[in-house]
This record gives sequence, C-alpha cells and structure tokens, in this order.
Amino acid sequence: MTKTPKVSLRGLYKIFGADDQAALEHVKAGLSKDDLLAQHKHVLGLQDINVDMQAGEITVVMGLSGSGKSTLIRHLNRLIEPTAGEILVDGEDVRKLSEDGLREIRQTRMSMVFQKFALLPHRTVKQNAAMSLKVRGMDEATQDAEAMKWLERVGLGGYENHYPAQLSGGMQQRVGIARALTANTDIMLMDEAFSALDPLIRTDMQNLLLELQDELHKSIVFITHDLDEALKLADHLVILKDGAVVQQGEPQGILLNPADPYIEDFVSDINRARVLRVQSVMQPITGTEFAGDVDIRDNLESLIGRSEGDTTLHYRVTENGEPVGELNMRDLVKALVPRLSSTKS
Ligand SMILES: Nc1ncnc2c1ncn2[C@@H]1O[C@H](COP(=O)(O)OP(=O)(O)OP(=O)(O)O)[C@@H](O)[C@H]1O
Ligand SMILES: [Mg+2]
Repeated sequence: MTKTPKVSLRGLYKIFGADDQAALEHVKAGLSKDDLLAQHKHVLGLQDINVDMQAGEITVVMGLSGSGKSTLIRHLNRLIEPTAGEILVDGEDVRKLSEDGLREIRQTRMSMVFQKFALLPHRTVKQNAAMSLKVRGMDEATQDAEAMKWLERVGLGGYENHYPAQLSGGMQQRVGIARALTANTDIMLMDEAFSALDPLIRTDMQNLLLELQDELHKSIVFITHDLDEALKLADHLVILKDGAVVQQGEPQGILLNPADPYIEDFVSDINRARVLRVQSVMQPITGTEFAGDVDIRDNLESLIGRSEGDTTLHYRVTENGEPVGELNMRDLVKALVPRLSSTKS
C-alpha cells in the first residue's frame, strides 16, 4: 500500500522495569515473557509490534487480559515511553516531538474515550463535552455550540444541564463520545470503551459508533477483548498475545483462516453465520442459473433463511446493483465450520 498510514508502529518494544535496555537484549535473544519475569524481574509489555493504522478506518486491537492492549494504545500519545521502536503519526515520530508538539498532538489530533467514562462529576454534561475546547482556550459561545451539536448527535439533546451521576452508564458513555467528537480530532483512541455497559446498551453504542464513522471517517483505535465486538467494528483487526501480534488483517479473513491455536480458541464460539458476509465466501461468476440476487454485504445467516437450507442453490452476488460474483450454498456451509490451523489443507 502506497498511502501513508495515519499511525504506524515500527519495531515497538516496551519492557517495564529498572533496566529495560538490558532486558530488551534478552527479549531480542528470544527470552519469553514468563522467563523474563522469573529471571530478570522485568515485565514484557510489547514486543516487536509492527502495525499500520489507515486513515478513516477502525483498527481494533484484541487480546486476553494482560496481552498489552492498553500498553499499545498509550504509546500513541506517549502516555508511555517505548523501550525501542518508532511511533509515527502522519509520518512524524512522536518520540521526537518537543513538549509543545506533544501537547498539540494530545489536544488537537487525538481524543480518548475511556472504559470508566472519566467524566468530571461536578461539571454538567455540556461542560464535560466542551472540556477539550475549554482547555484550548476557545471562547465560550463556540464551546457551547460545538458541545451542543455533538450532544444532540449522540442522542443527548435535553440533558446538557444534567450532571453525570444523573445519567445511566450508557448515557454517560454517550457524553464520553460527544466529548471526543467535540475535540474534533482525526484520531480517536477507545480503550474498552463499551466493556462496562450492559449487552443491549453495548450493541446500541456499537451501532452509534458505526453510524458516526460512516459520516465522519475518523481514524479510530478501538480496544476490546470481545470478539463479536471486534468483528463488528474492525476494518483492520490486530490480535495480541503476550505483547506480540499473533495475527492481523481483515477480520473475516482471520475468522476463515486463523493463524494459530490461540486465535482458533478466540473464534471457536462465534456465530459464524451472523458474522461472515457474502463477500468472504463468494466465487467468480461461472454459472448462469441463479436462485436470485444477494448483496455482497449480506451476512450468511440471512441467506440461509432465504434458501430454506437448500444447499444446491446458487445466488448471484451484486454490489451497488452490479453483478460481482456468485455464491454457492455448498461453500457457505463449509465456511460455517471452523477451520483448524493444524489441519489446514
Ligand atoms: N506500569 C506498569 N508496570 C509494570 N507492568 C505493567 C505496567 N503496565 C502494564 N504492565 C504489564 O504489561 C502487560 C500488559 O498490560 P496491559 O495493561 O497493556 O494489558 P491489557 O491487554 O490492556 O489487559 P486488560 O485487558 O486487563 O486491560 C501486563 O503483563 C501488565 O502486567
Ligand atoms: Mg487494558
């Protein structure tokens, strides 16, 4: 790909401990996270991370607890100093930024949405939403107008004079999102932003985020340990284990071709029919007789319903009304069965 990624991590390492540079040599020589801790009392946070995050996309970072997700996202605005490697934002290495440059990046180019909302309890919803503009010294009328615009956009019109404690968890996180949008940054960092919410509210928030993204095309880094959420949101999915990337790419491809047993475990419980889309299973057009047209974005579940389980059928796949391939129900059925990396043909 020739375009410059919005964010690039290059050979990024983070080791927690007093002599991280010495520990780095051990890690580069192959010492595992467990052994580094046992033998040298240092914690391996991240190892040799190479990830490109494209502008306008949602990059989801997923992994079990302790795999390094928060450590990774905190490097982007240098809340954490790396042990080694580069963090490029719009091609510029944030390690080389001056104090002013770093402040500029934190205030105007990246906003954060936190798991625990992190709202100021004694400020109103509107004041919370306007926070970043206030910090930047913007006049009050602009602060108000911008905050109100985004509060309304996330469905909180009428609540601007309430205090956070008067809102439900889901509503508080809407304030968190409005606050990030009011900051008007290209990049949004979301660390487990929806993990504290009830399942139904969580689904609402995911839908809201996708709706906003359709309109705003932010570069979003979204952290989760929920695979359903990851598959729903991700344009690019990065899976971490013990501080290293075990697989990254387009999420449906990962689901169909998991690279290792850790990922097979992750994907084994997923409702594949609901997550997989026609696009991932279709073939080039060879036939002429079709049972009907299906959209490239449809999920497999809807097609199973339509075909009434008839595995002999073929459908023509269309995108924006144009034929782009064919889907054979037989291939669909195969895709529903998890494929094990150890038994790959
Ligand atoms: N300040 C720190 N000092 C020492 N070790 C740390 C520090 N911060 C993180 N770690 C270690 O780095 C590793 C990665 O932690 P991190 O918080 O990034 O995980 P995570 O994937 O975000 O987990 P969770 O899903 O629980 O939030 C863990 O082993 C953790 O113990
Ligand atoms: Mg974390």
